[in-house]
Parts: sequence; structure tokens; C-alpha cells
Amino acid sequence: MDRLTGRTAMVTGGSRGIGRGIALAFAREGADVAINYRRDREAALQTVAAIEALGRRAVALQADVADWEAVRAMTESAIGHFGHLDITVANSGVAARPQAIWDVDVEHWRRVIDVDLNGAFHTCKAVARHMVDRRRGTIILISSVGADICAAFGSPYYVAKAGVNALTRCLAKECAPAGVRVNCIAPGLVRTDMGERLLDFVGQGLINAIPLNRAGEPEDVAAAAVFLASDDASFVTGKILQVDGGQAS
Ligand SMILES: NC(=O)c1ccc[n+]([C@@H]2O[C@H](COP(=O)([O-])OP(=O)(O)OC[C@H]3O[C@@H](n4cnc5c(N)ncnc54)[C@H](OP(=O)(O)O)[C@@H]3O)[C@@H](O)[C@H]2O)c1
Repeated sequence: MDRLTGRTAMVTGGSRGIGRGIALAFAREGADVAINYRRDREAALQTVAAIEALGRRAVALQADVADWEAVRAMTESAIGHFGHLDITVANSGVAARPQAIWDVDVEHWRRVIDVDLNGAFHTCKAVARHMVDRRRGTIILISSVGADICAAFGSPYYVAKAGVNALTRCLAKECAPAGVRVNCIAPGLVRTDMGERLLDFVGQGLINAIPLNRAGEPEDVAAAAVFLASDDASFVTGKILQVDGGQAS
């Protein structure tokens, strides 16, 4: 298990859920990892301890990804801490309230777009020049199969995630001449705090719509992230990889 030995990574929203799963999988493969959180410092410190228990270096960095200055400063801290960043995962996200578009509060729409789309943009903007200048590095964004399914009553989230898919494809082309790869994972339902809330709201029908007949686990997404971050994916860029039990196929 040494596909990322000697590499350094930053995972936004790495304190809980899918981001934590990715951070731990990177550490198991030999990477040192900076994890970002917004408000749950206790969860972030637990993830740092779990990474250190695997024999890797880790640091927790607080920032709201919706705030460009905070993301810029956080990225500088991560680079200062490790000397450079080889891998960045733009994972932080929030769900939208289940509502028809005509009921969506304008401030709620803006907040979901700010975190889920602008947060991904801020993260990419903060780290891409560093990677392009080094002519080394890879970026992974996390969108959602919801961006393709576009179900009713989740528009701010699905619109933001469709933007993340487009951001991935644009950035991949801009970074490719420097050999920097950019890909995206689009998960289906995954058992995290966010996924459990969606499952409670929609019910068992959500599982029944998944051909593999189960929800994903953070480890399912993490395995795809390790692949995309590693040299095994050295000829893969600009791709949206659906990790969804077949839901969107
Ligand atoms: N779970 C699913 O079914 C599913 C499906 C498709 C896509 N996704 C996507 O996968 C990603 C991770 O989701 P998850 O299920 O792991 O969610 P989660 O369990 O709710 O965890 C969210 C993580 O993001 C952080 N975060 C939230 N808002 C933030 C902000 N403004 N700035 C910085 N960090 C912030 C949280 O930190 P704090 O705890 O400190 O706030 C936490 O670490 C998201 O982009 C989500 O949209 C999830």
C-alpha cells in the first residue's frame, strides 16, 4: 500500500464523511495530509490523530471554503507546513433544503452555490498555480450524480454540482500542458451525515433505485480518489467518474 508514498495532500472537508475517508485512504497509501474543516474542530482533530496513528503527518486547517481569502491563507499554510502540495481534493459541500425552486430562499440559494461551487473554484484557484509552476500535481473535485439526474426539489445543489463538473473539464485543459491532472468524482448516495439525512427524507426507494442495491460507503469514494491521485491514473484527466452503484447509468 504505497501508491502515494512521499506525497502531500490537502482535503477540504476532510474532517468527516467522504473527505475523512479520502484523507485516511491517502495516509494508508503513504501520503501526509492537511485536512480542512469549517466548524467541527473535534472531528478534525480526531481525523488528524487517525492519520498520525498510521504513521503519517497531518494538520487540521480551519476555513470556510466560501471565503476566498480564507481558502488562500489555508492553502498557503498547507504548502508552508509540508513544503509543497502534490494532491488537492475539493470535497467540502453542503446539501440544499428540499424545496421547489419557487420556494427557495434567495440567501439559501446563494449559500449553497457559495460553498459547493464557489468553494471548489476557490480551492482550485488557490492551488492550481502552485502545481502548474511545479509542473507536478493533481486535483480531484467532488460533485454528485445529482448533477446528471437533476431530480426535483434540490436545484441549488444540483446546479452547483453541474458547475463543478464544468469547472473540472475547463481546469483540466488549462493544467494539462504542465502535466497537472484534474478529475472529478460524482458519488451517488454515500452513508455519511449528509447521505443519512437524504435517506431519511427520501426513504428506501432511494436504495431501490441503485442497481447494486446498497448505499456507498466513504471507502468506496476513497478508493476512486486514491486511483485518480496515483500514477495509475497518469493518462486520465478531465474525467467525471461516477461512483454510484450504477444509479446514473
Ligand atoms: N453523502 C452523499 O450521499 C453524497 C453524494 C454525492 C456527493 N456528495 C458530496 O461529497 C462531499 C462530502 O459530503 P459528505 O457526505 O461527506 O458530507 P458531510 O458528512 O456533511 O461532511 C461535510 C464536510 O464538509 C465540511 N464543510 C461543510 N461546509 C464547509 C465549508 N463552508 N467550508 C469548509 N468545509 C465545510 C464539513 O466540515 P464541518 O463539520 O467542520 O462543517 C465536513 O468535513 C460533498 O461535496 C457532497 O456534496 C455526497
